[in-house]
Amino acid sequence: MDLKWNQWVLSALFLFAGVAEATVFDVKNYGAQADGKTDISKALVSAWNDSCASVEPTSTVLISEGTYLLGPVILSGPCKSSSIEFQLQGLVQAPPDPASIQTDAWVHFQNVKGLKVSGGGTLDGQGERAWTSNNCSANPNCKELPINLKLTTVQNTIIQDITSKNSKYFHIGIFQSSDLTLENLNINAPGNSPNTDGIHVSSSERINVTNIVIATGDDCISVGPGTRNLNVTKVVCGPGHGISVGSLGKYPGEAEVYGVFVRNCTFINTQNGARIKTWPSSPVGAASNIVFEDLIMDNAYHPVILDQAYCPHQKCDQEPPSLVKLSDITFDQIKGTSASQVAVIISCSRGAPCENLKIGNIDLHYTGIGGSANSTCLNVKPIFFGVQIPPIVCT
Ligand SMILES: *[C@@H]1O[C@H](CO)[C@@H](O)[C@H](O)[C@H]1NC(C)=O
Ligand SMILES: *[C@@H]1O[C@H](CO)[C@@H](O)[C@H](O)[C@H]1NC(C)=O
Ligand SMILES: *[C@@H]1O[C@H](CO)[C@@H](O)[C@H](O)[C@H]1NC(C)=O
Ligand SMILES: *[C@@H]1O[C@H](CO)[C@@H](O)[C@H](O)[C@H]1NC(C)=O
Ligand SMILES: *[C@@H]1O[C@H](CO)[C@@H](O)[C@H](O)[C@H]1NC(C)=O
Ligand SMILES: *[C@@H]1O[C@H](CO)[C@@H](O)[C@H](O)[C@H]1NC(C)=O
Repeated sequence: MDLKWNQWVLSALFLFAGVAEATVFDVKNYGAQADGKTDISKALVSAWNDSCASVEPTSTVLISEGTYLLGPVILSGPCKSSSIEFQLQGLVQAPPDPASIQTDAWVHFQNVKGLKVSGGGTLDGQGERAWTSNNCSANPNCKELPINLKLTTVQNTIIQDITSKNSKYFHIGIFQSSDLTLENLNINAPGNSPNTDGIHVSSSERINVTNIVIATGDDCISVGPGTRNLNVTKVVCGPGHGISVGSLGKYPGEAEVYGVFVRNCTFINTQNGARIKTWPSSPVGAASNIVFEDLIMDNAYHPVILDQAYCPHQKCDQEPPSLVKLSDITFDQIKGTSASQVAVIISCSRGAPCENLKIGNIDLHYTGIGGSANSTCLNVKPIFFGVQIPPIVCT
């Protein structure tokens, strides 16, 4: 059967009928089987390529309901259609063996404009085996594991109404992209799965992240170098390591972070809540215009933590201090409970003290025994407004 011809006839019929319908490229018409064991990667790439080459204003790639096995794929543009819908309705599973994906991503969109991913389906990274063999905490040169859904140089794009589950590494990674909306997503992996950040953004701008439930083993959201104008609202995080700007200052020449707003988020049994982290002994860098406000902490271990001596595996030179300059930072309307007594940690760098740090209403209570919540604050003279519980005294 000549598939291209079929698609052409279909398009021609739509045109003839004057129906402004999108052309649908169903992977099943390219040989995909919903049997959970036949790799559909060739079918998916062919369907994508045809959709991408379609001259219709809108074309749709469809993975309908059912369970599919999918090897690593790169879905690239530029495309002729001005908008492409990726309808993920089914459950798509990655091969469990980490050795079967040699690239740094499982599903990788690149060089696409006007993409919309939706459909209610699930990307299941089947990460259990990868987590057990992950030795990145002991081995700094560990092999990079694949990101479930990676976007590189993607613009004007919406990712909505899908689930990312048990990724081998990050769930969603966004690089060199702009004008994106991520909404109504469900992201989940066990609390002890290593490096399974929910959403990682770097070198990207104008991004809205809203209405997302994230339960994972690392940062719910991590904001890397070169991120500009990122708004995060209505995210529920937990378990996980919180919403983090950083870690910054690992490599020379990192682009600055500018404009990160985190609002109306809830943290449940997380390791951290609102966090900014930079490595000690770092090259020069900068992050500014960062606002954390209207946050609810439910038993977060470190609800507020600005840490410029970040050293997760206790193998860092603490001298010289971090040279990542943090300025125009606000923490306001942060309330709830802390699982550790030190509810607020502000540890600015001696080498580049924080500038214009504003601390507004904080109302955090320690749930354990042995006294009330307290705080630490170093190398900064914050501008205080409102009321802080616990009190914050800086030296
Ligand atoms: C799909 O398109 C990419 C680049 O546009 C090309 O490299 C690849 O060979 C194509 N694959 C198929 C199966 O058509
Ligand atoms: C990490 O795992 C890789 C592959 O399993 C292995 O080659 C390497 O020796 C391990 N490194 C350490 C430090 O355990
Ligand atoms: C993000 O949301 C704001 C406010 O709702 C809106 O003005 C803006 O256009 C959105 N940006 C993107 C890239 O979707
Ligand atoms: C983020 O929110 C701020 C403040 O409400 C707004 O000025 C900005 O345009 C928003 N950014 C995006 C990407 O929507
Ligand atoms: C965020 O929470 C504040 C305080 O609860 C509320 O006034 C505001 O409407 C909320 N904003 C959004 C976008 O949900
Ligand atoms: C805050 O609590 C910690 C942990 O219990 C304790 O070690 C520290 O001395 C307390 N700090 C102050 C200033 O009370």
